[in-house]
Amino acid sequence: MAGRIPQSFIDELIARTDIVELIGGRVQLKRAGREWKACCPFHAEKTPSFWVSPDKQFYHCFGCGAHGTALGFLMEHDKLPFPDAVDELASRLGLEVPREDDGRGARTRPGEELYDLLAQVSQFYRDTLRESARAKKYLTDRGITPETCVKFAIGYAPNSWDAVLKRFGGSAERERLLADAGLVIERSGKGESGFYDRFRDRVMFPIRDARGRVIAFGGRIIDEGEPKYLNSPETPLFHKGRELYGLYEARQALRKIERLLVVEGYVDVARLAQAGILYSVATLGTATTTEHLNRLFRVTSELVFCFDGDRAGRAAAWRALENALEHARDGRQLRFLFLPEGHDPDTLVGEEGAEAFEARLATAQPLSEFLVTQLASQANLANVDGRARLAELARPLLARVPAGVYHELLLERLAQEVRMPAGRLAELLNARPEKPRAGRPAPGRRTPLSAGRHPLLTQVIMLLLHHPSAARALAEPPAFLHGDHKGFAVLRELLEMAKAEPELSTAQLIERWRERPEGARLAELAAEESLVRDGRAAGRDLVMALKRLAAEFGPDKRLNDLIAISRERKLSNEEQQEFQRLLGDRGSPAGG
Ligand code: UTP
Ligand code: MN
Repeated sequence: MAGRIPQSFIDELIARTDIVELIGGRVQLKRAGREWKACCPFHAEKTPSFWVSPDKQFYHCFGCGAHGTALGFLMEHDKLPFPDAVDELASRLGLEVPREDDGRGARTRPGEELYDLLAQVSQFYRDTLRESARAKKYLTDRGITPETCVKFAIGYAPNSWDAVLKRFGGSAERERLLADAGLVIERSGKGESGFYDRFRDRVMFPIRDARGRVIAFGGRIIDEGEPKYLNSPETPLFHKGRELYGLYEARQALRKIERLLVVEGYVDVARLAQAGILYSVATLGTATTTEHLNRLFRVTSELVFCFDGDRAGRAAAWRALENALEHARDGRQLRFLFLPEGHDPDTLVGEEGAEAFEARLATAQPLSEFLVTQLASQANLANVDGRARLAELARPLLARVPAGVYHELLLERLAQEVRMPAGRLAELLNARPEKPRAGRPAPGRRTPLSAGRHPLLTQVIMLLLHHPSAARALAEPPAFLHGDHKGFAVLRELLEMAKAEPELSTAQLIERWRERPEGARLAELAAEESLVRDGRAAGRDLVMALKRLAAEFGPDKRLNDLIAISRERKLSNEEQQEFQRLLGDRGSPAGG
């Protein structure tokens, strides 16, 4: 396998590529002040909300939230895996992509080892499937073809307590890695030690991330048993509430995803794809979260949620609706499809075929319709009281829908139901929905940092992401950042990076975090509107913000904590050093 691409090379690529030119070659950009805008290539829209910033070398869509660097753009837009996107940028610049030594280098990051391991184990499950008549028969009986197994990399975990452990364990360190990957479980009984395989005698569905890397598995029991599906636990790579089964496969299969069908199960996705319906994804046994919706709307502008028509299905649909309201914007379509009771897409598409199934899709209920009929069923619309009650029930829901055409339509639909002019109903509801995020703050008007919606620590991180050179204003990261607050380590590292290379652009800074768990969050923050519009003021703002942060978390608080601890027990060496450091810091400009 080729070695890692050195970070310094990524830096160089980002520094030498002009994101405006890169994106401009694929999307028609119009100048707007210092920035450029266009209709977003990641969702359908008629008025531009996609911005490209030459200063930050970053793009951001205020409509769908898509954002990233030049590299990120290539990955999202051209659907390239990371190394290919790097190759593409390099060849535009006429550069060779250098590779680092791959000799189990100390430079490999923990994340990479996990990806590697998961890929190997996934291959092992696939090999095992080829040898298991029992698993193959189960899949055949369920109507899943060998081609589908290949497409979805379906495998089989053998009926053994230690097949994976033995094959991939090897050393204590490797066993630990297997546990981190969620593949083995540590024995916890009295006098017990060691690990055992989590997945045994199950058909294995690998869950792949946007880049096609295996990050987790869902394992279905063969025939009957409990639990029917066993999923990987939360791991550094896998967060159940974020991932969507089948999204990678859909994006591979389709050039343009017109719509996505959200279903409940792995088998549903596989069977639908097999029938030629290539655009379905499944949540992993959870309700559809806001994170899911963000991801989905980055890929398409039309969603159809698919549920069983029974009571449980309707309840699940309602939960999906509640989470979807804030995502209901102009240019987006959200619909609900209820299947006949006792059916799921898997059985239905098997029985009636793709065409009939797609005909059903055409009849899916728009969100507004589902919302109004559900509410109407809770109120007697024949009398005024009932209609007032309907309006009352709708008020909090409507308030969550951003202002815009969608909001208006929903209001009109409700007005019809309560038999009242829409304007009058709006007055009555006095629903003051938040303005959609498409609006940009008036240029030149500087909002004080404290006006942000984020906690102070996050605001400081954002400031630094937007203006890495601000770190120049600082002698060194204030000592209180050594405290064990979650975000401190990240802020400290950012400060150190920016301090060491104040010329870094936002994009370069973000690229350094690509492979790390915090990377996605940082990219999100970088994509948000900066409250500090003026780069020159950023240094001063940073110093002031750190001061405020210090007051919130800083040395005095930590000092007091340490003093309190020292009354209980002897301080460790590290704590004593920290104590000294904090004492020494008191009164220094950024730390005190
Ligand atoms: P269902 O129970 O509806 O099963 O679970 P299904 O998809 O129809 O499964 P088959 O057709 O019997 O194989 C829907 C989804 O809920 C999650 C899984 O993601 C599953 O695909 N689930 C279900 C679990 O995580 N654990 C379970 O025990 C059951
Ligand atoms: Mn099923």
